[in-house]
Amino acid sequence: MPDGVSIRSMSASDLGWAHVLNEANVPAVGTETSDEFAHLLDVASVALVAECEGAPAGFCIVMSAGADYGSVNYLWFSARFDEFLYLDRVAIDERHRRRGVGRALYAEVERLGLVVRPDATEFCLEVNIEPRNDASLDFHSALGFREVGQQSTPYGTRVSLMSRSLLAG
Ligand SMILES: CC(C)(COP(=O)(O)OP(=O)(O)OC[C@H]1O[C@@H](n2cnc3c(N)ncnc32)[C@H](O)[C@@H]1OP(=O)(O)O)[C@@H](O)C(=O)NCCC(=O)NCCS
Repeated sequence: MPDGVSIRSMSASDLGWAHVLNEANVPAVGTETSDEFAHLLDVASVALVAECEGAPAGFCIVMSAGADYGSVNYLWFSARFDEFLYLDRVAIDERHRRRGVGRALYAEVERLGLVVRPDATEFCLEVNIEPRNDASLDFHSALGFREVGQQSTPYGTRVSLMSRSLLAG
């Protein structure tokens, strides 16, 4: 864990600032109403907050198989994998990027995700290629994610669907 960084569970009391951070990062992440954003937390199997020096600096929200979630990208993975972790979104406040916060969040997603869903075989997510999100593509490449498909979405984006194996070895 980087110095000064800690990770904890996300709760309903985090929804306000996290929604503001979400909207500040559109189109890298999808825009949501407050109610839609709250629904993401309701259906998540893992939702985490990263704090830097004790203040919230980022969050991520993860669903697993069988969630009440209609995102076309979630449905793409649902059609291909029986058991998986799907990282719906991650955003780190720009003042705290490139100090290992994202990497630390993903390590905790994988650890906790396998506690909640021990049979999960894949860690899945998508990254925009239209409009192109080079920082996220570089981040996910550095963390070992590889493209397993592409699709255009009803939200006007085209995405690279990526995954990383959760199987040991
Ligand atoms: C993508 C994002 C989550 C990365 O978070 P982060 O905390 O800055 O990432 P880390 O510091 O853990 O980076 C880990 C590694 O990823 C790579 N990386 C991260 N950001 C990068 C960038 N902007 N350019 C190139 N490589 C990058 C590097 O290899 C980095 O290791 P290094 O700093 O030792 O070189 C963050 O930039 C973000 O929130 N972006 C806006 C929202 C967004 O795009 N979300 C993803 C939607 S798919």
